[in-house]
Amino acid sequence: MTAFRAHVSPENRAVPLAAAGEFAPLQLGGLKVDPPVVLAPMAGVTNYPFRSVCREFGAGLYVSEMISARGYLNGHRLTRLLASSQPGERPRSVQIYATDPKDVSEMARSLVDSGVDHLDMNFGCPVPKVTRHGGGSAIPLKKKLLAKIVAAGVAGAGAVPFTIKVRKGIDDELLTFLDAGRIAQEEGAAAIGLHARTAAQLYSGEADWSAIAALKSSVSIPVLGNGDIWESFDALRMMRTTGCDGVIVGRGCLGRPWLFAELAAVFAGREPDVPPNLRRVVAIMEDHARRLIDFFGPEVGMRQMRKWCSWYTKGFRNSSVVRESLVRVASIEDMLAALRTLDLDEPFPMAALRAPRGKTGRQNSVALPHGYLATLDDDTPPDESAIGDDAESFEGSLSGG
Ligand SMILES: Cc1cc2nc3c(=O)[nH]c(=O)nc-3n(C[C@H](O)[C@H](O)[C@H](O)COP(=O)(O)O)c2cc1C
Repeated sequence: MTAFRAHVSPENRAVPLAAAGEFAPLQLGGLKVDPPVVLAPMAGVTNYPFRSVCREFGAGLYVSEMISARGYLNGHRLTRLLASSQPGERPRSVQIYATDPKDVSEMARSLVDSGVDHLDMNFGCPVPKVTRHGGGSAIPLKKKLLAKIVAAGVAGAGAVPFTIKVRKGIDDELLTFLDAGRIAQEEGAAAIGLHARTAAQLYSGEADWSAIAALKSSVSIPVLGNGDIWESFDALRMMRTTGCDGVIVGRGCLGRPWLFAELAAVFAGREPDVPPNLRRVVAIMEDHARRLIDFFGPEVGMRQMRKWCSWYTKGFRNSSVVRESLVRVASIEDMLAALRTLDLDEPFPMAALRAPRGKTGRQNSVALPHGYLATLDDDTPPDESAIGDDAESFEGSLSGG
């Protein structure tokens, strides 16, 4: 067994590395993504600082968190900041959240003018506040509206590839992903990403990779598989068992950005380096905190860093003891002082490999607008004015997909 295999979970110990030529690069219109690995859009998480940390570890497509079109078009400061990037971020990718085709095309055009290389559109948000108004994962139930939104996004994006990301559906009775795939293809989307859970499942249970395989066999545009990639070998297993064209990695990289180095290695047919020990993790945390401070300023940057402290230290011995102080840290020095009380030579804990970070969530019934199922042919965009359009209310309440 290689050194790395001792650090993977038993189900992945015997998974073969990618053979030469086994997996093609992911082709999104004119954009080539090699290895075929995409960082999942995650609200409150995939801002420029985290994307830049991930990119240091390996190539791929690093998508922004979902950005509210109304907040963006109304010029809200935080929304604009979250949609922004820094020179050198290439390819640059932004996920749009909207319900009105007009907003989607206008935002897509504006982002293309600002230099984005890829646009994704969120049709998976399961949050009650959103679905209750007919937004997020409720939209694919209305096929005509979905088609209009995708067509508007594709038109606004012009030569830039425009993709969509969906869930399997509302619940097991109301599955929408196969129709969404057909519509995405007909309206010119460059790919479709599938989070293989229903909205009712939130983040609970196991992702149903068989749905990814079913979608792959029903469309000719590329299919991106998403759900439960915790380790690099999970990505190879997902590609092999579903035939999908690329993978979207969400919670598995929270506090583990080196997962992208491991993914790059296994796709290139190499055994990855062993995961970092705590000393090295602390160095990555310090770098991440500096990037957050540069981007958000010292106060907001360190406030953001607090949740990362929990994720980075998850599973390390005695980390629960220092977590009390880590969730309150106000400076990098405080953070390092708390971390130095731990055994910095401790290897990365196996138990932390498949431990969900960010969201778990129990099964839930999905709130839809009153009488929604009787009006599925109606392609009028839902009225979402009850939902705040600035990033603060948006991020706090709408995160998810
Ligand atoms: C904290 C958090 C925020 C999320 N925000 C978004 C989002 O803004 N847009 C989106 O399409 N999905 C969002 N998601 C869903 C992820 O993109 C992904 O589909 C989901 O986590 C499943 O992948 P995983 O099992 O690899 O985590 C979010 C997930 C988490 C954990």
